Amino acid sequence: MTKALEGVRILDFTHVQSGPTCTQLLAWFGADVIKVERAGEGDATRGQLRDIPGVDSLYFTMLNHNKRSITLDTKKAKGKEVLDRLIRECDVLVENFAPGALDRMGITWEHIQALNPRMIVASVKGFGPGKYEECKVYENVAQCAGGSASTTGFDDGPPMVTGAQIGDSGTGLHLALGIVAALYQRQTTGRGQKVLAPMQDAVLNLCRVKLRDQQRLERTGTMHEYPQYPDGKFGEAVPRAGNASGGGQPGSILRCKGWEHDPNAYIYFITQAAVWPAICKVIGEDGWIDDEAYATPQARLLHLKPIFARIERWTMTKDKFEAMDILNQYDIPCGPILSMKEIANDPALRATGTIVEVDHPTRGRYLTVGNPIKLSDSPTDVTRSPLLGEHTDEILQQLGYGTDEVAMLHTELVV
Ligand code: COA
Repeated sequence: MTKALEGVRILDFTHVQSGPTCTQLLAWFGADVIKVERAGEGDATRGQLRDIPGVDSLYFTMLNHNKRSITLDTKKAKGKEVLDRLIRECDVLVENFAPGALDRMGITWEHIQALNPRMIVASVKGFGPGKYEECKVYENVAQCAGGSASTTGFDDGPPMVTGAQIGDSGTGLHLALGIVAALYQRQTTGRGQKVLAPMQDAVLNLCRVKLRDQQRLERTGTMHEYPQYPDGKFGEAVPRAGNASGGGQPGSILRCKGWEHDPNAYIYFITQAAVWPAICKVIGEDGWIDDEAYATPQARLLHLKPIFARIERWTMTKDKFEAMDILNQYDIPCGPILSMKEIANDPALRATGTIVEVDHPTRGRYLTVGNPIKLSDSPTDVTRSPLLGEHTDEILQQLGYGTDEVAMLHTELVV
């Protein structure tokens, strides 16, 4: 069976998280991804947060599967020469250096175009054009500048970042889509183009509903599904909504049996209008079905706190999985708060390849997140990340260098 992106060659000049997540996805769809790294150190994440001395960190291995690694000092003439050959041979160059770094290396858009007018040049930057475009950016900066932090957390607390890496991995996803679209357009134009995914913009895209709410707030001065309603006050900007449901179906995180000693004994419970009678029956409040204070979604908005307090009295009598089993019988939308420990052992996620075990020559066996996007005609086989420079000789040979040249280059490029 062929892979969706078979035949596509990616010059992977990425590091840390945002760029590598993008090229890892492309590799999982079948592209040949050649990761260019500096000799000696390589991608800085190889050495960050190490749990085994001298071994590539999980940070690196979990972001660089299915790739090949070549070490090049692209600031030296020989390294630059090899890079130029790679530019001629590849379809896409992906990079996420600090602004201007590629130009400083002499790898300008004009230079790339002169070598390969079909090449797509895809970049992650912290910000798009504007006053911050020269800034270096990491995950949490993007979450703060993209509207996530100001809208996450509780009303009486400070802005908060989320554990989901929406700035890095979220931007990587956006970039991957841009690359695939540019490859598709190239089929008719024959030309490459630049693809830019700024992290601030990607986070904002993921916070789209909060910009929706900003406009609702400015028009009406209130938002009935927010916990600030009906007793609290709204200011000028979208407030933090705690764990309230983002849509028109009120929801909350509720304690379950064992919450006193298990920090994840909670369930997310949504009081979807369509199943309100079933909710009332399950919690033993049949009278609420016809009580005009509770019978309509509009009426319930005035009583969300007591309603969730009453539902919680019920959820606290069940563990989160028991509660799930009961609620699912009535199609009541809910979800257990799963710890990473529970997720790591989830049989369904393992069966679909979203959680996979991978063998690594120096690390041994480890767990990773496989391809979350499933293509029926392009299955993903997750293979380990490359050791630093593991494929240098192989790639040089493929670029047309003879055996003697490879030996000489190898010394020059690695030293
Ligand atoms: N050979 C020679 N030099 C190389 C090289 C190679 N193979 N690979 C990288 N370099 C050089 C670069 O040319 C650059 O040199 P310069 O500063 O002299 O121009 C240098 O290594 C480091 O690049 P830089 O990107 O500035 O790394 P950094 O560690 O200082 O900053 C980030 C890291 C992530 C903050 C920065 O890259 C950035 O803002 N990237 C864009 C946004 C982004 O992706 N952020 C999220 C990361 S998860």
